[in-house]
Amino acid sequence: MPDGFGTDHQRIDGRAKVTGGARYASDVVVGNVAHAWLVTSAIARGRITGFEDAEARAVPGVLEVFTHRNMQGAVAETEFFAKGGYVGSTIRPLESDQVWHAGQIVALVVADTLEAAREAAQRLRVRYAEEAPAAGFDAAGVEVVAASDAGFEDAGVGDADSAFAAAAVKVEASYSTPTQHHNPIELFTTTASWAGGKLTLHEGSQFVHGLKHGIAAQLRIDPADVHVVSPFIGGAFGARGSITQRTALVAEAARRLGRPVKLVPTRAQGFTIATYRAETRQQVKLAASRDGRLQALVHEGWEVTSRPDAYKVGGTATTSRIYACPNVRTKVHMVHADRNTPGFMRSPPELPYMFALESAMDELAYALDMDPVQLRRINDTQREPIKGLPYSSRNLVGCLDAGARAFGWERRSPAPRSMRDGEWQVGWGVATSIYPAHIGTATARVTLLPDGRARVQTAAHDVGTGAYTAIGLAAAEGLGLALERIVVELGDSDLPPAPVAGGSNTTASVCNVVIKACEEIRARRAQGQQGAIEVYAENVPEGLPPDSIGKLYQGRNALGGGLEGGKQAMAAFGAIFLEVRVHDRTREVRVPRVLGAFAAGRIVSPRQARSQLTGGLIWGIGAALHEQTEIDPRSARYMNDNMAEYLVPVNADIRQVEVLLLDEQDTQANPLGIKGIGELGNVGTNAALANAVFHATGTRPRDLPVRIEHLMA
Ligand code: MOS
Repeated sequence: MPDGFGTDHQRIDGRAKVTGGARYASDVVVGNVAHAWLVTSAIARGRITGFEDAEARAVPGVLEVFTHRNMQGAVAETEFFAKGGYVGSTIRPLESDQVWHAGQIVALVVADTLEAAREAAQRLRVRYAEEAPAAGFDAAGVEVVAASDAGFEDAGVGDADSAFAAAAVKVEASYSTPTQHHNPIELFTTTASWAGGKLTLHEGSQFVHGLKHGIAAQLRIDPADVHVVSPFIGGAFGARGSITQRTALVAEAARRLGRPVKLVPTRAQGFTIATYRAETRQQVKLAASRDGRLQALVHEGWEVTSRPDAYKVGGTATTSRIYACPNVRTKVHMVHADRNTPGFMRSPPELPYMFALESAMDELAYALDMDPVQLRRINDTQREPIKGLPYSSRNLVGCLDAGARAFGWERRSPAPRSMRDGEWQVGWGVATSIYPAHIGTATARVTLLPDGRARVQTAAHDVGTGAYTAIGLAAAEGLGLALERIVVELGDSDLPPAPVAGGSNTTASVCNVVIKACEEIRARRAQGQQGAIEVYAENVPEGLPPDSIGKLYQGRNALGGGLEGGKQAMAAFGAIFLEVRVHDRTREVRVPRVLGAFAAGRIVSPRQARSQLTGGLIWGIGAALHEQTEIDPRSARYMNDNMAEYLVPVNADIRQVEVLLLDEQDTQANPLGIKGIGELGNVGTNAALANAVFHATGTRPRDLPVRIEHLMA
């Protein structure tokens, strides 16, 4: 039986994953490997004045202690990813005596055994000249820069301030979202080995071709001499998208020692050697006429970043384009502090910024005495208001309607504190979800074998989302084969390049190119070609330049689609409905049920799609109730850098999670009508939860996470 788009399957890598057959980068055994251990900075700002390393070097088995004293100049300066480069931070540890943030790598100790490396690292004494750090917002010494001064555009149209002043109904409020840290199950490990001048890297990566070229640039070697192997990834969601600093250091250590080197950092070190979600503060002003039509939207954001890097979250690009509104003003500011550089984390712009917008929409609904679902319905639009681009397809209203029906929204009594169950206040909240639909330039090789099996090869990435299965289904569809006859190879820089596994583009980008290759195979079969047929295909989506293929081969992404770029706005939509219970006396918040209704184009692989969206809703609950990195303002150090104190939802926090997938055919977004869903599910859930808490208690949570102490009388 042939399979294809929309057929329900277990993930094809599922068995290997649950039986231990899937080898993650961290699992790979390399012969004669030496082990590295990181020493990270005890101060957040200042200089290293010296090392006492005699005791460290005396530990039996120690091979070398790498510091800036012997590594200076080893790693070339390269551009920040936002400027077209590869790195997620331009801070170069071991380049100088300068300390930019707490937990910066200050030494890499390599030994015959992990234990010896660790012991030596603990015996290394580092002396510092410490300066008082600025940890973040409100600290003396931060530098606030308008994002527009750093080259980013602030979306706007009309005259929002005048319209706000003149409007009949208005709300204005400030919101905040916390620092959050990636805590993937697989730590930020790297194994580097050299043979005949060629470097092999085993490292979990969301962009193997980017890693290959970026490392080559950092180490000043030919990219053809770098091979990145990353078939499975133990958690990504953004943290493995751009290059982190440890990779070049481990590779350089291996080169100098003439021996493979493996680094397995600690979980605490992962908080400062990788990227994380930036803390934000936001201000939203909404004004409407009495019938609920938006007249003005003002959204300003402030985001903490590192001293040298202008990492922009910038969710106003999305919040300015969701609802019909003639007057919009947005502005984003970056607050440079003595911190490591933040970066992508699942729905980087939308998760924090939609929290503020969708909370404000709820506040506006109360100010209008209008149902919050109805407020969103009447401000729906098929054109984004900034440039007037038509949405390629958009069914937010369908999501609101289907979600409301399935949730039983008509049974909600609108007034705050009006629903209860015994000792629990009950609240129901709603919020919009949106994620821009991206598609990138991609290449793939598909081979039809004489025995009726087929192989798909592309350097795309399965970050746990089910990409192997989705891509396998594309080949099954294209060749008319059963999924079990398809072998999919991903995550290796020797394969034809595909884009970063970011911006939820993989399914759209790769399925479109795989289908193209399959069509060519079918054409050749029709012409009578016998035997194995191998076809290499390239796909440049509409609106992207032809030379984006060449760029991709240099490890540079070309992503199109989305809300801002082309002739149309492309996005997937959803509506999140969520129930909370808040206990009368303890004020604990429980979430008995959440429901998301989504319209996200063609659903390629339904079981994995549901799984992604379910996981997204759970993540959204975590983002609203649990996740927060605590920062000591005196030392600019992360305090809860461990899984005991960095809270994420556990089974007991999650009860009923329901996903509705609406049919949506989009013939405009891309030939297959695929929109990404990897990041859609966790957008808006935090606002739905906060809105539900307001409905339950009459207290409006504007600062995440919502904690018991916020709900005490
Ligand atoms: Mo995702 S945060 O775009 O890797």
